[in-house]
Amino acid sequence: MGPRLTLSDTPTSSQTGQRLDAWREQQQHAVEQALSKWVQADAPAGLGEAMRYAVLDGGKRLRPLLVLATAQALNGNPEAAMRAACAAELIHAYSLVHDDMPCMDNDVLRRGKPTVHVRFGEAQALLAGDALQALAFELLVPDSPDVPPAMAAHLCRLLARAAGADGMAGGQAFDLASVGRSLALPELEAMHRRKTGALLQASVLMGAATAAPTAETLKHLVSFGAALGLAFQVVDDILDVTADSATLGKTAGKDAASDKPTFVSLMGLTQAQAYADAVLDQAHGALRLSGIANRDILHELTDWVGRRTS
Ligand code: IPE
Ligand code: IPE
Ligand code: MG
Ligand code: MG
Ligand code: MG
Repeated sequence: MGPRLTLSDTPTSSQTGQRLDAWREQQQHAVEQALSKWVQADAPAGLGEAMRYAVLDGGKRLRPLLVLATAQALNGNPEAAMRAACAAELIHAYSLVHDDMPCMDNDVLRRGKPTVHVRFGEAQALLAGDALQALAFELLVPDSPDVPPAMAAHLCRLLARAAGADGMAGGQAFDLASVGRSLALPELEAMHRRKTGALLQASVLMGAATAAPTAETLKHLVSFGAALGLAFQVVDDILDVTADSATLGKTAGKDAASDKPTFVSLMGLTQAQAYADAVLDQAHGALRLSGIANRDILHELTDWVGRRTS
């Protein structure tokens, strides 16, 4: 894990932005190296190549950054944190491979490249997703004393819950069942909290699980992760309308074209942006209440979610 970043005095927003950028680039590089080591090319019949194509060299790595920032803020176990960071990204990458398949969103562009099923075929994409998911859990349980068994079990439980029926997979089912329908706000929130929010929240909680936070801190981190996760998907809905495909690295305008209910279709762009801002304020409030002294990076990552352009 890289050196702890502490922001002293009251730096200007451009100073904190630059320091976040430096921290982020360092951590993204470390995550890339770890993923490249752990996702091996030698799986049979081209499966390893498809897995590496799906996960390496692309994406913002927000989930790993949240794991690492939370772990560092709480003085967590660095080996467990890097494993949890990569595990969260593997689940995310698998969810993207399946999300893009013709039976789901039928997308041809992801992270600026042809999607995995376009490049390798549908069966290989399905299997690459399956294998990435399995690898995520394998990483959390190393064959070494680096991660204490109780910590490994806790990390597995957090990730499994976020990925499964009550989290991402359930949210994706909700999403597909909602095509052509207009959802009310509570339903749309419930869908977004599952399909995207759960894994982002779990990333925060896995970072915390590598340390020993108080019950009070944990309670506020639960709220922080939930708010950040919901805001993230609202911004995703907004960017689908406001950004172009080259900037996004995925096809813009897909939600309206596919008749998906989104925050933009429900309340329009201006209100959706105001909603995202309000939920991000909730995230900032929960982070303040967490009592974590060294929370600058988490604060900056929260701002980054709001102002991201891809
Ligand atoms: C895109 O996630 C899919 C959603 C869950 C909304 P990201 O915007 O984090 O995608 P990458 O990882 O940067 O490509
Ligand atoms: C996907 O949501 C969420 C996942 C679990 C992958 P979207 O379908 O909106 O994600 P994008 O816009 O294709 O990245
Ligand atoms: Mg989708
Ligand atoms: Mg999609
Ligand atoms: Mg989207």
